Amino acid sequence: MVSALPSTIALVVLTLAAPGSAADKVHLTVDPSKSGAKIDRNIFGQFAEHLGSGIYEGIWVGPESPIPNTRGIRNDVVTALRALKVPNVRWPGGCFADEYHWRKGVGPAEKRTSTLNPNWGGVIEPNTFGTNEFMDFLDQIGSEAYLSVNVGSGTPQEAAEWLEYLTASQMTTLAKERAANGHAAPYKIAFLGIGNESWDCGGNMTADYYLSQLKIYSRFVRNFNPAQVGNQQMLKIAVGPGDASTEWTETIMKAYQNRHWSWDINGLSVHSYTVVKWPPSYASVGFGVKEYSQMLKSTLEMEDLVTKQSAVMDKYDPQRKVALVVDEWGAWLASMPGSNPGFLVQQNSQRDAVLAALNLNIFARHADRVRMANIAQMINVLQAMILTSKEKMILTPTYHVFRMYVPFQNATFVRVTFDAGTYKQGEIILPRVDAIAAKDASGKLWVEITNVDPDQSAEIEFEVAGVKAKEASGETLTAPKVDSVNSFEAPQTVVPKPISAKAQNGKLTVSVEPKSVTVISIEQ
Ligand code: AHR
Repeated sequence: MVSALPSTIALVVLTLAAPGSAADKVHLTVDPSKSGAKIDRNIFGQFAEHLGSGIYEGIWVGPESPIPNTRGIRNDVVTALRALKVPNVRWPGGCFADEYHWRKGVGPAEKRTSTLNPNWGGVIEPNTFGTNEFMDFLDQIGSEAYLSVNVGSGTPQEAAEWLEYLTASQMTTLAKERAANGHAAPYKIAFLGIGNESWDCGGNMTADYYLSQLKIYSRFVRNFNPAQVGNQQMLKIAVGPGDASTEWTETIMKAYQNRHWSWDINGLSVHSYTVVKWPPSYASVGFGVKEYSQMLKSTLEMEDLVTKQSAVMDKYDPQRKVALVVDEWGAWLASMPGSNPGFLVQQNSQRDAVLAALNLNIFARHADRVRMANIAQMINVLQAMILTSKEKMILTPTYHVFRMYVPFQNATFVRVTFDAGTYKQGEIILPRVDAIAAKDASGKLWVEITNVDPDQSAEIEFEVAGVKAKEASGETLTAPKVDSVNSFEAPQTVVPKPISAKAQNGKLTVSVEPKSVTVISIEQ
């Protein structure tokens, strides 16, 4: 029985009996009287790095482009992203951030200097998409800024001046420059990442060395926007580990507990890609249930990672003031044949949709500590929401999952208990189903059910404790095969379809198709 409760009290026991068959009903009980933490909408954040065609082509086509755009930002992409209610976008990297010098990306376009992007294909970085263009993009999609400042090859002065340029309301020289560049009012910067993977591409630092940098940056990189007070305060996010090992977290969190008044953090990042083994060799198309199962087994390790990091954080921060921020996650697969290997181009299948749902459910169960996450990456890179090819755009199965999960943004986690059962593929044993439930601000109950089994549908019989449910309706996403994708030739292969059920004697029965993600609301 899975008792899906927030974090520490979540209990997961898989039935190690015979694999499930369609005939095995799954009994699922939602108990609205047992509510948990708020599922912070920031767990549905995105990551957009200067990498491949993630920014140039994916977002920025330039004002002169025949592709319909608003001030250089493509309109089709903006419309698609608005439907996701993207809470925040992490930018400009990634590894790119630790080599980014913001001054090269402001001012008149014709005066901007071009540089190189040595991390990602060694291509020319024209710097035409810079600070003001990013903030305009956020404005167009209705999202908040999560900036990563350059700790690796920058200085505290450079980062502090970037923040002054962005946020000063008094007319300093930098604020005047911002006004001359078209934005007189200070910008709002909701989140600030201090470095990126500082143990690796960000400078191969030890935890102690990074900590000394963190204290300096945290002290001097100030937000001057007078509106950013109280709950609008800019939240500072420290670099955390890239796996389940806890030494780095120990160092940062111990220092946090004993911190001097002069520095502070509000989040600790962790990066975790689903790879199975490095270098990423699993194909994004043309695979079967074996690779499907291996990837899902690997992705479920997120639970262990979050649990281990949270335990260390609980030791030094029992009040859970510091959020665990999973600001890079998703499937990292082999690059598409014929693409530049430095561009990290991969297709996005129904497997990735199931993988996304399983991760979002883990974050939701840990909502009291995991208050932010950013899937890598938004467009054309890794596990993307959107793929573009010149004037064409397609929505991926992962996009549809993020759209279906919108009702969970800022909803309150509610206890759901069910017998997960098992799906067995060779030596691999996975939970057959997964589920979460939540109550939104209007009191409506929402349930998500993932059927992991690629071959068998699952009959879900559910009841709402203490309530006579009348009916349920929503959307379900499945596909002909585990590796089904949306392509430019066939963009509607994997799209959600409606699903509904009427109650009998207060119980609702829904049949969820194999390898599916389903989100329904319950009418009482
Ligand atoms: O998302 C691609 C890269 O993965 C990022 O730049 C880096 O932070 C991570 O290693």
